[in-house]
Amino acid sequence: MWLLLALVLPAAAAGTAAPPYTTVAASPDGIGKVYMGREISHVMSFHGAPWLERDERLDEERPDIVLNALELKANMTVADIGAGTGFYTWRIAHRVGAGGMVYAVDVQQEMIKALGQQMARRGAANVRPVLGTSADPKLPPNSLDLALLVDVYHEFDQPYEMLAAIVRAVKPGGRVAFVEFRANDSQVPIKPLHTMTEAQVKSEATVHPLEWVRTASNLPWQHVIVFRKR
Ligand SMILES: C[S@@+](CC[C@H](N)C(=O)[O-])C[C@H]1O[C@@H](n2cnc3c(N)ncnc32)[C@H](O)[C@@H]1O
Repeated sequence: MWLLLALVLPAAAAGTAAPPYTTVAASPDGIGKVYMGREISHVMSFHGAPWLERDERLDEERPDIVLNALELKANMTVADIGAGTGFYTWRIAHRVGAGGMVYAVDVQQEMIKALGQQMARRGAANVRPVLGTSADPKLPPNSLDLALLVDVYHEFDQPYEMLAAIVRAVKPGGRVAFVEFRANDSQVPIKPLHTMTEAQVKSEATVHPLEWVRTASNLPWQHVIVFRKR
């Protein structure tokens, strides 16, 4: 009886039990690991970094609309998780201003290097690059007003552990925002494993102490799905 309680209480105290991972034969774009009904995609290699800086991206993704949907304010502390080359990082850095700060987290050292060069070019001095691991963004607890995940959540290879760690880094009342390409939308020319439905994001996010706030779908191909930490 006491042993049973000892095993059950930690999960109950955390308010959540980790959904299990299962395996399948890997599809061409996936790693063969399944979480809550979807196969996890490969991590985008740093060899694809130029694709993140392509000119067409401004029309395809409309970062101006994404940033407006995030309601950024001066002096905020934001983490750009899976920042890549920093396409969003420097734009956020300018909006939060010199009194704010942006942690730019990535798991690839080469991306961190490219991001550093880009921040220098863009004059974004209030950015702190962070080399994380696939389950730990290495951020201080309760420090963020906003954690932003653009086109990355579907490639976390430990999504439960990683999102739990991100939520720990967010202040109570702070927000976590997912920007993903819309799944099941014939207008969106993106590989299925690199897309997510709003319903799937909501299911996976609310395993954690997050409550859905709003979804912005006024983007060409993506949606911005925003949660608040309880
Ligand atoms: C498709 S790119 C998107 C980059 C950037 N968010 C953008 O929109 O330009 C995904 C990035 O997330 C990074 N990534 C993947 N898994 C990660 C993890 N667990 N923690 C941090 N970064 C991760 C990859 O290394 C890659 O740079």
